[in-house]
Amino acid sequence: MPNIETALLAPDAAGIAEAARLLSAGGLVSFPTETVYGLGGDARNGTAVARIFEAKGRPSFNPLIVHVPDVDTARRYADISGTLETLARRFWPGPLTLVAPLKDGHGLSPLVTAGLETLAIRVPSHPVAQDVLRVFDGPVAAPSANPSGRISPTTAAHVMAGLHGRIDAVVDAGACDVGLESTIVGGAPLALLRPGGLAKEDIEAVTGPLAQAGEAITAPGQLSSHYAPDAIVRLNANIANPGELLLGFGPMQSDLNLSVAGDLVEAAANLFDHLHTLDATGKPIAVAPIPNCGLGQAINDRLRRAAAPRG
Ligand code: TXA
Ligand code: MG
Repeated sequence: MPNIETALLAPDAAGIAEAARLLSAGGLVSFPTETVYGLGGDARNGTAVARIFEAKGRPSFNPLIVHVPDVDTARRYADISGTLETLARRFWPGPLTLVAPLKDGHGLSPLVTAGLETLAIRVPSHPVAQDVLRVFDGPVAAPSANPSGRISPTTAAHVMAGLHGRIDAVVDAGACDVGLESTIVGGAPLALLRPGGLAKEDIEAVTGPLAQAGEAITAPGQLSSHYAPDAIVRLNANIANPGELLLGFGPMQSDLNLSVAGDLVEAAANLFDHLHTLDATGKPIAVAPIPNCGLGQAINDRLRRAAAPRG
């Protein structure tokens, strides 16, 4: 785990400018939203997104929420129309996340969506989150800024306690108002995917009854089955069998390599892109062994799902 100096930034013009500079450089910056403190990285930069998972110590790649300053910006990345658009206009900025189809040419790292064709996106109302997003001027992927399995942070001190030394900076603007993650809705029929800071009743007053949880995608475990390559995937392969393509790791002969240098952050950033590229050939895919430490655990989790027999 990297041990870097984590700067504590004030929520003034200089602090926000530094936060934006760090994000542009692929750094990780925690900032307050009205729900909880987020751990932000440039959603277009696969390495930055991989570092989010590394910093949190997440054992799997579940898709992340992308943060933007307004509805119009959200529409560059996701197709927000019909009921989703009504909800966006009524509740954004605020503690609501919409899951909507990804738009062509979105430019986001596939690690943000875990290779899905849908995107979770939200417009936070916290003035400091708004400032960071506007000055950075790009989409920010941000899960809650806590180590995996720990409770979500509602103060900069919580963030420091959990992630000091693993992220570049925290913008300290006191305690979050809501203290609970955003409510997530999506799917057809429209369903409540995660209860949160916006009450279900407030949403249903606009949409009518939401589908029961379970009718739509909810947990990351369920989501994972949505990304499986068409091709047969064979793990822990050191050489390709005849007809197979080899996805390498570390210095070796391969058709594509996750990281010639054997860097797990680089490998995570390349994972979904390379799987898609190889899958598009229609040939079976052999994958080199990946060390099962750090981000390797999440990479192996995802590869096992890709290789699992399906009906
Ligand atoms: O309040 C919040 O939402 C906080 C603050 C920082 O904004 N963020 C947050 O992000 O909670 P995160 O990454 O921890 O939450 C992501 C949730 C996960 O439960 C994930 O399964 C779901 O969003 N999710 C993401 N993309 C999805 C998709 N395409 N379909 C369904 N669920 C999705
Ligand atoms: Mg969380």
